[in-house]
Amino acid sequence: MEQSHPTRIAIVGCGNVGATYAYALLLNRLSSEIVLIDANRSKAEGEAMDLNHAMPFAHPTRIWAGDFADCAGAPITVVAAGAGQRPGETRLDMVVRNGEIWRQIIPQIVQHNPNGILLIATNPVDVLTYAALKLSGLPEKRVIGSGTILDTARFRYLLSQHFRVDSRSVHAFIIGEHGDSEVPVWSLANIAGMKLKDFCRVQEAELTSATRQSIYEQTRDAAYHIIERKGATYYGVAAGLIRITAAILRDQNTVFSVSTFIRDYYGIGEVCLSLPAVLNREGVDRVLRLELNPEKRPGCADRQRSCRAQSRSSSSRLRAAETWNR
Ligand SMILES: NC(=O)c1ccc[n+]([C@@H]2O[C@H](COP(=O)([O-])OP(=O)(O)OC[C@H]3O[C@@H](n4cnc5c(N)ncnc54)[C@H](O)[C@@H]3O)[C@@H](O)[C@H]2O)c1
Repeated sequence: MEQSHPTRIAIVGCGNVGATYAYALLLNRLSSEIVLIDANRSKAEGEAMDLNHAMPFAHPTRIWAGDFADCAGAPITVVAAGAGQRPGETRLDMVVRNGEIWRQIIPQIVQHNPNGILLIATNPVDVLTYAALKLSGLPEKRVIGSGTILDTARFRYLLSQHFRVDSRSVHAFIIGEHGDSEVPVWSLANIAGMKLKDFCRVQEAELTSATRQSIYEQTRDAAYHIIERKGATYYGVAAGLIRITAAILRDQNTVFSVSTFIRDYYGIGEVCLSLPAVLNREGVDRVLRLELNPEKRPGCADRQRSCRAQSRSSSSRLRAAETWNR
């Protein structure tokens, strides 16, 4: 991928997630241009005006409300367009509504920007990453979903609270679907290189199976609890998108659990799911094969099968939505 100069980031969908990401992008000084594209033009204009007023406290950046043609030359286009999750609604329930939007926007982005990376945040993110891949015709490495980067962050935060260590010092992953079937990889979670079992033994800490279940449930259900209270979630995902952006722009080879096209992973293939992947300026450099706990593998495989079934059924719902629209 050729990186344009100045560095432009295009954001399609400037609601809670898109606008928060734009703000974090400005404060993190990662790009010199930010173009905001939204079906609601005046919303994009208002966000651009508001963000411009933060510039004297940040750094010089050209920020404006634009059109799809302005995606041209952007190394990354972040897509956060679409309806948000309603209270009680699962992410998979949103597939038809957001799938319709997808058929309008993905071809327009790619028409103007065939060489950039698509970074998808809209839910259900795994299904829509797959749909973006198919609708765009872009190489697999250049279509990335935020996937379980947020769930992994929630998991690390909760473990950090339990063990009273900085969340950045907790290394653990949530893999699979960004949604109700997500899988915590307990067997590889570690602090200072010590697997949690060893950490508990050596440091005289405790992690009962009830606590483990509670940490998993709080991770998995976090969005429901936040949406119940404030209507939407956006800080966590925007911060994750910023880290992905930095890894790509700065060619950092950073490992994140992001949604990518999977060919063959413990028997799973032909879907987009989250697994630890190495990201650099090309996009997804490679997906890392995890050595999953052999004792846990059958259970995990069951869950992965359910994940695959869900993604498959969502894909067929998306395909059905396409047919209705023709
Ligand atoms: N991946 C994650 O971890 C994660 C976390 C939080 C939210 N989300 C998802 O991100 C998406 C956005 O959430 P939000 O809270 O920002 O929603 P929002 O309703 O605040 O914003 C969505 C924006 O998309 C715009 N939009 C709708 N159709 C469009 C189109 N055809 N072209 C351009 N813009 C269009 C709307 O005008 C609106 O401004 C949702 O699907 C939500 O579930 C994902």
